[in-house]
Amino acid sequence: MPKLTFSFAKIPLSALFLLLVLSLPFQVISQNLDDERSILLDVKQQLGNPPSLQSWNSSSSPCDWPEITCTDNTVTAISLHDKTISEKIPATICDLKNLIVLDLSNNDIPGEFPDILNCSKLEYLLLLQNYFVGPIPADIDRLSRLRYLDLTANLFSGDIPAAIGRLRELFYLFLVENDFNGTWPTEIGNLANLEQLAMAYNHKFMPSALPKELGALKKLKYLWMTGANLIGEIPESFNNLSSLEHLDLSLNKLEGTIPGGMLRLKNLTNLYLFNNRLSGRIPLSIEALNLKEIDLSNNYLTGPIPAGFGKLQNLTGLNLFWNQLSGEIPANLSLIPTLETFKVFSNQLSGVLPPAFGLHSELKRFEVSENKLSGELPQHLCGRGGFAWMPKSLGNCTSLLTIQLSNNRFSGEIPSGVWTSPDMVWVMLAGNSFSGTLPSKLARNLSRVEISNNKFSGPIPAEISSWMNIGVLNASNNMLSGKIPVELTSLWNISLLLLDGNQFSGELPSEIISWKSLNYLNFSRNKFSGPIPKALGSLPNLNYLDLSENQFSGQIPSELGHLKLPILDLSSNQLSGMVPIEFQNEAYQDSFLNNPKLCVYVPTLNLPRCGAKPVYSNELSIKYLVMILIFALSGFLAVVFFTLFMVRDYHRKNHYRDHTTWKLTPFQNQDFDEHNILSGLTENNLIGRGGSGELYRIANNRSGELLAVKRICNKRRLDHKLQKQFIAEVGILGVIRHSNIVKLLGCISNESSSLFVYEYMEKQSLDRWLHGKKQRTSSMTSSVHNCVLDWPARLQIAIGAAEGLRHMHEYYSAPIIHRDVKSSNILLDAEFNAKIADFGLAKMLVKQGEPNSMSGIAGSYGYIAPEFGYTRKVNEKIDVYSFGVVLLELVTGREPNSVNEHKCLVEWAWDQFREEKTIEEVVDEEIKEQCDRAQVTTLFNLGLRCTQTSPSDRPTMKKVLEILQRCSQQGH
Ligand SMILES: *[C@@H]1O[C@H](CO)[C@@H](O)[C@H](O)[C@H]1NC(C)=O
Ligand SMILES: *[C@@H]1O[C@H](CO)[C@@H](O)[C@H](O)[C@H]1NC(C)=O
Ligand SMILES: *[C@@H]1O[C@H](CO)[C@@H](O)[C@H](O)[C@H]1NC(C)=O
Repeated sequence: MPKLTFSFAKIPLSALFLLLVLSLPFQVISQNLDDERSILLDVKQQLGNPPSLQSWNSSSSPCDWPEITCTDNTVTAISLHDKTISEKIPATICDLKNLIVLDLSNNDIPGEFPDILNCSKLEYLLLLQNYFVGPIPADIDRLSRLRYLDLTANLFSGDIPAAIGRLRELFYLFLVENDFNGTWPTEIGNLANLEQLAMAYNHKFMPSALPKELGALKKLKYLWMTGANLIGEIPESFNNLSSLEHLDLSLNKLEGTIPGGMLRLKNLTNLYLFNNRLSGRIPLSIEALNLKEIDLSNNYLTGPIPAGFGKLQNLTGLNLFWNQLSGEIPANLSLIPTLETFKVFSNQLSGVLPPAFGLHSELKRFEVSENKLSGELPQHLCGRGGFAWMPKSLGNCTSLLTIQLSNNRFSGEIPSGVWTSPDMVWVMLAGNSFSGTLPSKLARNLSRVEISNNKFSGPIPAEISSWMNIGVLNASNNMLSGKIPVELTSLWNISLLLLDGNQFSGELPSEIISWKSLNYLNFSRNKFSGPIPKALGSLPNLNYLDLSENQFSGQIPSELGHLKLPILDLSSNQLSGMVPIEFQNEAYQDSFLNNPKLCVYVPTLNLPRCGAKPVYSNELSIKYLVMILIFALSGFLAVVFFTLFMVRDYHRKNHYRDHTTWKLTPFQNQDFDEHNILSGLTENNLIGRGGSGELYRIANNRSGELLAVKRICNKRRLDHKLQKQFIAEVGILGVIRHSNIVKLLGCISNESSSLFVYEYMEKQSLDRWLHGKKQRTSSMTSSVHNCVLDWPARLQIAIGAAEGLRHMHEYYSAPIIHRDVKSSNILLDAEFNAKIADFGLAKMLVKQGEPNSMSGIAGSYGYIAPEFGYTRKVNEKIDVYSFGVVLLELVTGREPNSVNEHKCLVEWAWDQFREEKTIEEVVDEEIKEQCDRAQVTTLFNLGLRCTQTSPSDRPTMKKVLEILQRCSQQGH
């Protein structure tokens, strides 16, 4: 502070007076800042002197502190965003009389709503992402100048008080993701200045209707009420929300019709009403010309698609699937230049497709399956269209990824462009009356062609060898004919080949060039003749072979016996001779029927005995007995396997007959359909079996991306527990959204099976990279990686996994504990980003009133925190322990629990620490040369801290993440 030191005597009185007048306000303001500094220093002390507020000291002006903003020499804003504060905010903060902005977001502040209602000038209050509990104070309107209030991601409960409706200045109100278990007031409709209102993901709200009062919010631009337990109708008054731009009411139980004026809201750009119970017609009068995305899917809407949608010149996505819409697809929809996604499948649409589809837009997904559409396909639908004078982007819809037309009444030929559109991944045309021949050229990426139940005719062209990436070809029940060209056997990627129910004839190629992936082969109901090629016996992955109802003759090649075929059908042919010994058991009871010239040795199949009986000697008869025993045993196993397979197959088939028995629970933005998933549950898509079920890799017919599908059969009664885990997983993963947590896209279930659909993780799990080589004996890790996971990748994985866990522990209304963190549950995408997976054991940490113990020991040996042994009251620190083990794995490359070691990894690591070993002595040999010594040391020490015996000594995931991030920055 400048001191005024001068001699009175030398200055004229008037000048002195002037000086006094001038200096007085300066003095007062300084005094004020002085006071404010002491207030802030006191606040800092009460917050426990967090190191993050280091710059707050008594020798500088508070206006110079980074967290403080001053206006006219007084403190007006405090931003404590992400300052690791874990104490309550002292009420004295309101002694700062001019405080306008208070940002406490992203901390660990506990307790009730902070005692700040005396901050009478407060306009901006940000409390998001803390641990606040209890109700919002009923007198919150004491903050009468409040304009911006964000309470997102806390544990607030109870009702939202009517007082909120008296905060007349509010323009921004976010109450997303809390524990509110009461009601919310219609008085929110009084907030005439409100521009953004979000109460999404409050699943515990009492079911309530949208009050008509909200329609009075003339300035409202953004309304987000996803998953807020809304019932009743959308009020007509919503027609008055003239400023509305973004409306999301998805995932509720709204019923009734869509108000007529909704689509006349001129500024509306995004309209999401999917997954509700809306019925009636879509309003016909469309004047919301700015609409970019419409999703009304999964409701009970009837009537036509409004032709007015064609006026929406900026529309990119129109999702109307899973409704009961009827009538024709309006022609002018095909004129929208921006349209990329057109999904209207599973409705009752009829008539022809507008001929201009594909002419004007860059369609990516064209999905109209399961309707009553007829006529021919528009010639412009990919490729052929366009005129020389048109810009290329308009003429060719070269961007088409998927086309789905299945189960309609289409006829005519497929425009050649459909087959050759460069980005095309899936072509699904089954169940129509398409005719024409198979194309000789296919788009390079096309992996799935389904044309079954149509009228395709003619031969398979020899050029089929150019169908490079085809994985599935289903051409059952057409009128295809001619011989099978040997070129067909060169499709190295094909896994499923169905040509049954056609008019193919002649002999099969004796040579099979490269069906190494072939899993499922069905040539039944044709006119094939000649011998069954021996080469079939050398297909390593064949699981299903059906050659029934043909005229195959000669002996069954003994090579076939080498295949462990769960399904074999050679019935109704002209085969002769002995059935290969491997098939002479009950599992193949029906495989050889109606082949009068076949015979067997072992009298198990219903076939005649072969003529010459084997010679008996004592020695031989024992051998024979043993053989019978082995056959009987393998027969039994085969029957079991067979039954399981049939059950699965039955359900799959059954699904097509009656897919209403399958219940699909989609989560937001799900982009797949249940048919796709169910039909993909084939052996060739099976990528793993584990304790909790089977894992399949299925290509998404919508996007072409790969999906991972976990299947749990509830048929096996022992799986009651699994079923419970399934429910837990759905409940938790359905809510969590984070880039380091594997995305659950939806689940499908019926009485006997439950399926989870996840994003597919290209690089699979971390343990395969760290320990894959050592475990090579195990069959599941046969596709083991030889490459070394380098140090930067390991650090990145540690950070990613820590972020995912931190999110689970801190972001939700109660911490979600994973309970089974281990390197095999950390999955890696193509860029080695880590994602936490497998939430079967995860649990929302119990809250007051609920029983607060966890039954049974959860987790995996080597990762289980010691407190599990002596108490059932555990918290999220058990995940920190397990994560610590993962850190130790990353550094040392050792398995958490190796059979060759007497000690588990944690014990070993602590021994090294006690014996003061150097980091070089513990680090993984594979990365020794390239790793950053300081970083490796940090991670190793952090692993030790996380694996301390006492839970309270372990850091929180937030702390862990901070350390890792700092460590990663130091490296550069
Ligand atoms: C709402 O939750 C709070 C805190 O968990 C609880 O005390 C209260 O009883 C609940 N109220 C209702 C209506 O369930
Ligand atoms: C609609 O948006 C335009 C452009 O952003 C804006 O000028 C206009 O005021 C908005 N209309 C209403 C009713 O808010
Ligand atoms: C479509 O979007 C463009 C820019 O994105 C905008 O200039 C134009 O006004 C929009 N058209 C309509 C009809 O809203």
